[in-house]
Amino acid sequence: MLTEEEKKEIEVEFLRYEQKRAVSVEALKIVQRYRGWVSDDTLIEVAEFLEMTPAELDAVATFYNLIFRKPVGKHVILVCDSVSCWIMGYERIRQHLQDRLGIALGETSADGVFTLLPIVCLGACDQAPAMMIDDELYGNLDPAKIDEILSTYR
Ligand code: FES
Repeated sequence: MLTEEEKKEIEVEFLRYEQKRAVSVEALKIVQRYRGWVSDDTLIEVAEFLEMTPAELDAVATFYNLIFRKPVGKHVILVCDSVSCWIMGYERIRQHLQDRLGIALGETSADGVFTLLPIVCLGACDQAPAMMIDDELYGNLDPAKIDEILSTYR
């Protein structure tokens, strides 16, 4: 069941549009903020609240790559693999993150703290190579800087 808080936040979004389905992405982001990810059951409940079919909402969730349809760790690391970051050393950054966390892209660390995912351009090409952890952007990365950043999470 959607909580009262989740419903209230989604209803605030309804005020901005004529159709409930127009807030699909916002509604998914709201429930994900509370639950960490969007399970099948959650997706069905949100779809009902938005007067959509689960299949229609799932298509939105699948298209939008910041909606997680599988459980993720406490923190999600999005490492940019687009052209500027690739030129500026993406491979080295990705490898260091994987070695440091003991996981491959798409996986969650054994302690459940980090999930590592690739993402297209974060809009920080002037700071390439870049990554985002939750809502925080980090640029001009090198292995030492990554170690320093990761040590502030846990
Ligand atoms: S290419 Fe990585 S931030 Fe733009």
